[in-house]
Amino acid sequence: MTALPPRQAFPQGFLFGAATSSYQIEGHGFGGAGPTHWDTFAATPGNVKGAETGARACDHYHRWAEDLDLVAAAGFESYRFSTSWARVLPEGRGAVNPEGLDFYDRLVDGMLERGLKPALTLYHWELPAALSDLGGWRNRDVAQWFGDFTRIIAQRLGDRLWSVAPINEPWCVGWLSHFLGLHAPGLRDIRATARAMHHLCLAHGTAIGVLRAEGVSNLGAVCNFEHALPAEDSPECHLATRRYDAIFNRFFIEAMFQGRYPEEVLEGFSPHLPKGWEQDFPTITAPLDWFGINYYTAKRIGPAAGPWPGTAELPGPLPKTALGWEICPEGLSHLLIRLQRDYTGATPLYITENGMAAEDRLRDGHCLDADRIAYLAAHLQACRAAIAAGVPLAGYYAWSLLDNYEWAEGYSGRFGLVHVDFESLQRTPKASYHAIKKALER
Ligand code: NOJ
Repeated sequence: MTALPPRQAFPQGFLFGAATSSYQIEGHGFGGAGPTHWDTFAATPGNVKGAETGARACDHYHRWAEDLDLVAAAGFESYRFSTSWARVLPEGRGAVNPEGLDFYDRLVDGMLERGLKPALTLYHWELPAALSDLGGWRNRDVAQWFGDFTRIIAQRLGDRLWSVAPINEPWCVGWLSHFLGLHAPGLRDIRATARAMHHLCLAHGTAIGVLRAEGVSNLGAVCNFEHALPAEDSPECHLATRRYDAIFNRFFIEAMFQGRYPEEVLEGFSPHLPKGWEQDFPTITAPLDWFGINYYTAKRIGPAAGPWPGTAELPGPLPKTALGWEICPEGLSHLLIRLQRDYTGATPLYITENGMAAEDRLRDGHCLDADRIAYLAAHLQACRAAIAAGVPLAGYYAWSLLDNYEWAEGYSGRFGLVHVDFESLQRTPKASYHAIKKALER
């Protein structure tokens, strides 16, 4: 069996962590929390496998202490988690739900008691339904609403957070949710997409400004990247890949680090962006202390008939995970080297998510997920290769601590290091959890 590279194979101080997000594990719809657009989306037939919701999920809201024990016992030194906006502000703005804020307060204290560095993401996808009713990410006011939510969290938790990122994977919040229609709010509308993607940038920069003003430090961003490859060596495939790469890989990082949007995206977005968008870049380019990369897969791109962007995802030859995602660890080293060279320079980088979905089953109380161990080992080796090439990579978070609500895939995409029985809610560490624990021994 492939062994994971040990802690000692990484530079001194390299940080290891596990990641989760609120809606995917907490359970929702109680404790004073308001409804979110994911509740609406999941309740609409055809959107989510089995119409499953995050109503119970892993019941982390009540079992958080046990879950933090698992993070600490594996030898991780940081825990990446997120705050549910609607749990803290049931209407998205206005009155605070004290029970919700108290929950995160206890959670952060629980991390500190276990020696874990709290790495907070403010928004991991469940927009309060009341804000969705007002247009959600399409409404420019969302930047201000998000800024106000950020201030509330900063004032309550800011003194104890190790790091903060405003928005998880803005491509998913923008493109996947407003152009492809596969995540809440499920739109397929280019104008909505252009606006949402711009407002995500503006909300990101606004939140960074609020956090700095509140004295919170170690601020970053978390974006997702794929290794985009032309399906064939033809000019059409190369052109389609450039466009795909601009939308998926370059839009947000280019906005944050260079204060512009890629030409290939403006070709499609120009008529739809809100008036005066160029004037927002001073806010969007607020300096960052680190940059987070979520990486899972490679994509083969070819041309497609029809209007912009005219790109198609085609099947590739590499082995695939249970969700059909190609396993391509070399793509991670390529991306790290490229992003550092083209955008982030000396800014420390973190892998803020990496992991795989597998058909994990418990047999005699054990889950032998050798495929996940091999996946993690190969990607950790890809991190080492990037470090050897001079990339200032400072840490790695595994996605995810627990099997959880995999959005439109419902509970079928199991990504956990720890198996969750969604009937009994029993947690069982998988072989990958034990392998990480061994690798992290000091
Ligand atoms: C990225 C997202 O941040 C997370 O919510 C999701 O579960 C994983 N990728 C796996 O798809």
